[in-house]
Amino acid sequence: MKNLIVDHLSIRFGAANPVRDVCFQLDAGRSLGVVGESGSGKSLTALALMGLLPDQARVSGELSWGGRSLQAMSERERRAVRGREIAMIFQDPMTCLNPSFTVGYQIDEVLKLRLGIRSRVERRKRGLEILSDVGIPAPETRWDAYPHQLSGGMSQRVAIAQALASEPELLIADEPTTALDVTVQMQILELLFSLKKKRGMSLLFVTHDLSVAGRLCDEILVMYAGQSLELASANAILKFPQHPYTQALLAARPHLGGGASERLKTIPGSVPRANEQIRGCVFAARCEKKFDRCEREAPVFSSASQFNRCFLSKNERGSL
Ligand SMILES: Nc1ncnc2c1ncn2[C@@H]1O[C@H](COP(=O)(O)OP(=O)(O)O)[C@@H](O)[C@H]1O
Ligand SMILES: [Mg+2]
Repeated sequence: MKNLIVDHLSIRFGAANPVRDVCFQLDAGRSLGVVGESGSGKSLTALALMGLLPDQARVSGELSWGGRSLQAMSERERRAVRGREIAMIFQDPMTCLNPSFTVGYQIDEVLKLRLGIRSRVERRKRGLEILSDVGIPAPETRWDAYPHQLSGGMSQRVAIAQALASEPELLIADEPTTALDVTVQMQILELLFSLKKKRGMSLLFVTHDLSVAGRLCDEILVMYAGQSLELASANAILKFPQHPYTQALLAARPHLGGGASERLKTIPGSVPRANEQIRGCVFAARCEKKFDRCEREAPVFSSASQFNRCFLSKNERGSL
């Protein structure tokens, strides 16, 4: 089982720097929720781990998987890791599924090419088991169906089945339910987390919903403007958030049972653009607790009790 370490990841496209400094660790068998507003660099971070960034992207920092540098690998080694050890599912299941082939064919290919199972009968048996694991009723009747004959929820289940067929050690799920009906969303997420537990794999779960991540994940990474701002156990993030941005996100959550009269609090201002030069803290412009130093100097991502990037945190206070 392998640990994943991302250290000072930065991704540039020309003058734009949408991922500025992302650091986190995901231990084998754990689940990490990556939370941030749209445009905070979550998907780019996930694609960097898969080695699927567009060619123009300039990447720096260290991506380490089981002690090996992902960047130092040859394209061939990288492809082997991508096919067998790290798999990814996307918001739109059709990113992974080919509309021209049947469900069965797409699962069969993975079992044949990635796992090297020679017997067609054995592959069909295994494939049907996986489809049943992801909650597809009467899988034999779906084996010969084409993706467009399935609902959005069923297609996403097939995409999950395809990702799981290669028995990955790490699954990256990038907003896997955002495009689905609210009623199906929670079912699919619960399924995903129960499969994670059953298979002992690690899960990197990308979402813009802090409450959902808090409910399902072991740890949470809060991202903003291409930086990791806070990393801690889900419980610590929800109960003892240290970064003013995490605190603001929590305050902006709608309260369950709050009733229609309760106004949703939002964080005033907007996320800095990817091509904006930022000298100090990336959140300073919207932070209620900022002081002079925050606009002059960039705080580092450091840990006393939990990883946090703020001059107000305990580990930085001594140097004020
Ligand atoms: N191919 C690209 N070229 C230039 N900029 C890009 C490219 N892809 C993404 N970006 C920029 O990176 C920002 C962050 O993207 P993304 O990782 O998709 O954010 P998130 O998944 O958190 O919503 C986008 O808002 C966009 O400005
Ligand atoms: Mg995204």
